[in-house]
Parts: sequence; structure tokens; C-alpha cells
Amino acid sequence: MAMVCLSDFEAYAKKYLPKIAWDFFAAGADDCCTRDENVLAYKRIHFRPRMLRDVSMMDIRTKLLGTEISFPVGIAPTGFHQLAWPDGEKSTARAAQAMNTCYIASTYSTCTLEEISAAAPGGLRWFQLYIHRNRAVSQQLVQRAEALGFQGLVLTADLPYTGKRRDDVRNGFRLPPHMKLKNLEGAFEVCKMSPSFHDCSEYGLPPNSIDPSVTWNDIYWLRSLTHLPIIIKGILTKEDAELAVRHGVQGIIVSNHGGRQLDGGPATIDALVEVVEAVQGSVEVYLDGGIRKGSDVLKALALGAKCVFIGRPALWGLAYKGEEGLQDVLRILQDEFRLSMALAG
Ligand code: FNR
Repeated sequence: MAMVCLSDFEAYAKKYLPKIAWDFFAAGADDCCTRDENVLAYKRIHFRPRMLRDVSMMDIRTKLLGTEISFPVGIAPTGFHQLAWPDGEKSTARAAQAMNTCYIASTYSTCTLEEISAAAPGGLRWFQLYIHRNRAVSQQLVQRAEALGFQGLVLTADLPYTGKRRDDVRNGFRLPPHMKLKNLEGAFEVCKMSPSFHDCSEYGLPPNSIDPSVTWNDIYWLRSLTHLPIIIKGILTKEDAELAVRHGVQGIIVSNHGGRQLDGGPATIDALVEVVEAVQGSVEVYLDGGIRKGSDVLKALALGAKCVFIGRPALWGLAYKGEEGLQDVLRILQDEFRLSMALAG
């Protein structure tokens, strides 16, 4: 099968992954309107291409908070990479390093932070945090990530509770017993003592382990724990963008969690402009959600994003051929992005 565009990887993953894993990766909340809008919205945006501008030489590198990456596409945090490929997040880290881009490792990784950093010691890595009710657990994770050379802390703001993903409910989704949320092992002793750890919980964690009482003030708490730059993920309005700047974050990821949380919110590309306008260049603004082509990347950059991140397409690449498959996905996006830039002048 010739892999020409990201949809080819999606088709492969759908055909070959176990249904329960495919459904988990594909899931959106409720009717999946926002998930689908993330992709559809790009089709309503059109270029004003300019001609005869000498595009024989192009530089597609950019910088994320001062660190250079080879092109403006990184890997968004997604959980449970071992559902896609046995080496899980280690393969993701290696692919990102090989392509010289940024990988945001999820709190819900199936490899430890130590394994991830050892797999790609030279790669640019950020760590994504969910704040747990047990603050000591979160504090320890942040400090572990910093000590291991992760260079940014991404706080996910849009998941006080997990959105309702119907297929996961229907499938009774949970991690297979041989996979673990390795970074949280031992963190929830009470639950571990129950006779059947995996039966007492959501994804192998105690139910409702994430703290729904988190507010903007907790940014100050995080600031007190770490010297890492803080990037807030899940912002969709100018009001929240202004609050993020006021609370001292260094970056904002415009995101709706791939449409997996609140159904009925805007496509991220439609929310981008008001966020970019609100921050007036004081912090870097990134975007994720619905990026499937190089021209989508160019549209997001043209509307003010410094860089975009891919969630599901990275998982499809892993499902295809692990590290190699994810590199293929990134290379295709890179080639398409360069071509779109040239053709748009
Ligand atoms: C996610 N996302 C996510 N976000 C986060 O902050 N922490 C996480 O652990 C996860 N886990 C996760 C799992 C899966 C299977 C998906 C699809 C998504 C959201 C992710 O970072 C990102 O916002 C979206 O995936 C971007 O949309 P696309 O690229 O998937 O359309």
C-alpha cells in the first residue's frame, strides 16, 4: 500500500488496530461535532496566493521558546501509545528526535518519563501534566520531568472531568492488563490494594483522580515547583488567553482536546485568531486539532500560530510501523507544508 497522505495512515490504522484501540483513538465527545469541525473548518479557509516570488530557496525551520525545530509541526500529548505499537512512547520520542521536532509526552504514557528520555536523549521534549487530586503526585511528576531534561511543562486545562466518549462507554474501554500508566504506578496506593486494580478504575486510575477544582491560581503553585516554562493547553477564547498571559505562562496551545471534551465548541482554527489578537505577541501561540495536510499547517501559521501539533495522525503513524511510520507521517507533512508554502508564494 503506497502511503501518500495522512488519510492513508488513518485507513491502515482503522483496518489493523483492534477495534477497542481504534475507537479509543478516534473518539470524540457526544456527537463528535467538534472533533469533525476541527477538520472541516480548514476546508472553508482559502489562500490568496501570490506569484513570481522566487520560491527556489525556502527555510521552514522555526523556534519553540528559543529552541529550533526543523519545521512547525510537533507531536501533541496523547495517552497509551502501546495500544498502537509495542514500544509505545519510546518509538514516538525516537521519531520526533529523528525529525528534529518537539514531542509532548502525556501524563498518561505507557512508558516512564525515564524510558522516554533515554530513548531520545537529544530530542526536544515537553511534559504534559494533568493535575491530580493528590497534589504530591503531580509535584513529583513535574520535578521528575525537569530533572530528566524535559524543557517545557504543558498544563492541560480542558479536562476537569473526562468527556463522554460513547464508543469507549459501549466498549467498556480500559487498558489491557499488561499495559500500565507507568508514570503513576504506586501513586494511588488505596486503589492498588483493592483485589482487582484494573476493575476499580477509569483507565487503571482511581475514578475521578484528576482535580476538578483547579483554577488560574494553580499556575502560581506550578510556578513555585519548577523553573520550566509553562504552556497552557486547551484555550479557546480571548478572555482565557488574557488570563493566561496575566498569570505568567510562556505559551498557549489553542486546543479542544481533539473534540474529546466539550462537544459544541469551535474548531480550533476558528478560535485561533481571537487568541492571537488577545495576546499581542506577548507569548507564543500554538494550535492542535484537525491538522491533516501541509496546507492546514500553512493556514494555521498564516492566522498567527507559531507551530502546530498533531494528535491522532501520530498514533496512525505508530500503528503503521512504529517509529518509522511516525517519521513517514511527519515527513509527508513536512513535504506538503513546503510545497504549499511555495505554491502560495
Ligand atoms: C488526546 N489528547 C490528550 N491531551 C492531553 O493533554 N493529554 C492526553 O493524555 C491526551 N490524550 C489523548 C489521547 C488520544 C487518543 C487523543 C486522540 C487525544 C488531546 C491531544 O493532545 C490533542 O489536543 C488532539 O489530539 C489534537 O487533535 P487531532 O490532531 O487528534 O485532530
